Amino acid sequence: MTLRVLVTGGAGFIGSHTADALLGRGYRVRILDNLQPRVHPHGKPAYLSPDLEFIQGDATDRRALERALAGVDYVMHLAAYQDYLPDFSTFVHVNTESAALIFELIVAHRLPVRKVVFASSQAVAGEGRYRCEEHGVILPEQRSLEQLERGDWEIKCPECHRVMESLLIDESICRPHTAYGISKYAIEMLAGTLGGRYGIPTASMRYTYVQGSRNSFFNAYSGICRSFALRILNGKAPICYEDGAQLRDYVNVADVAQANVVAMEAPPNGHVVLNVGGGKPITVLQFADIILRACVSNLEPVVPGSFRVGDTRHTVSDISAMQRLGWSPAVPVEQSVREYLDWMSAYRDTRPYLEEAERVMQQQNVVRAATVRR
Ligand SMILES: NC(=O)c1ccc[n+]([C@@H]2O[C@H](COP(=O)([O-])OP(=O)(O)OC[C@H]3O[C@@H](n4cnc5c(N)ncnc54)[C@H](O)[C@@H]3O)[C@@H](O)[C@H]2O)c1
Repeated sequence: MTLRVLVTGGAGFIGSHTADALLGRGYRVRILDNLQPRVHPHGKPAYLSPDLEFIQGDATDRRALERALAGVDYVMHLAAYQDYLPDFSTFVHVNTESAALIFELIVAHRLPVRKVVFASSQAVAGEGRYRCEEHGVILPEQRSLEQLERGDWEIKCPECHRVMESLLIDESICRPHTAYGISKYAIEMLAGTLGGRYGIPTASMRYTYVQGSRNSFFNAYSGICRSFALRILNGKAPICYEDGAQLRDYVNVADVAQANVVAMEAPPNGHVVLNVGGGKPITVLQFADIILRACVSNLEPVVPGSFRVGDTRHTVSDISAMQRLGWSPAVPVEQSVREYLDWMSAYRDTRPYLEEAERVMQQQNVVRAATVRR
């Protein structure tokens, strides 16, 4: 018997790659996706395989979800609201409520779902984990606006105010400081609590920064690759916030799709939280160099001393739990960047998108200048 998997948000970036990976493993795959206009302004994307069963509907809509859940063996809940806009209630409504509704329907209809895999995020970990040479390991608060306005970027020990060393972030760290991160943490708590109570195995996948093809070109949220590429292709230097020394780990979408499948197929083990990252820290400045080289550009990254409100300083995930399941990231950042640029080359006139992204950032007052430099 062929097993069937429901992928919510399956028309999107991670969802469509996950759906393809599942088809490749011989599963039948059903998608529930509302084709969110900000992500899909031209409707259903052409990259979706004809072998997928597609239901257009909202994951917060009981009827649509009931239809989508009928007869499935596994659920991958990837649909989510993501944005820089301060519409806090929408994050909680879409992301958390849809996760709760999945449990509600499984319990109400006694659905024989074998496991639910949830898209969580590194955002749950907030500022992560640091070590002060005198006071040991510390989970810091987010940096104050006043500190950032001084151009003082590093995380300091709350006791002795020394600059601390950033450590890998493991899955035990839960200190979200955005509405989006809180919505994802709430999903993890629902998975742990309701999954445990009703005997529904779950896995919550904390992705870091995912890159590759099909990353919505229209959604300003879609990240550093889009914002740097848009500027470079329009003859402008990429802007690195703070001092460009922030550490990140970027992971390719094919590796993420593979991680989702590995977590789904792993023997049920109650509720597990799993970091999915690139396993290699790189700075924002190094990333700017990689993309400039891939674009064969003579531009240099600029570091004007501005910052983005709500950004974290250094966030690099410890992926050893996923490695113990036999998964490791295989695609280097350079290749992810090339894949994204190839994908983006389908869009000829990119200037309006750059102007729109910059207008939104300005309107929201997200980017600020440091007024007093050290
Ligand atoms: N891309 C990343 O770097 C990243 C990092 C961490 C976590 N995540 C999480 O991974 C998941 C997938 O992200 P993505 O980057 O593929 O995003 P995406 O926007 O490309 O895909 C999300 C899909 O969900 C659909 N959708 C949105 N709201 C919906 C709703 N209410 N009902 C049904 N469908 C809905 C959209 O139409 C879209 O097709 C999300 O849960 C996201 O929070 C992504």
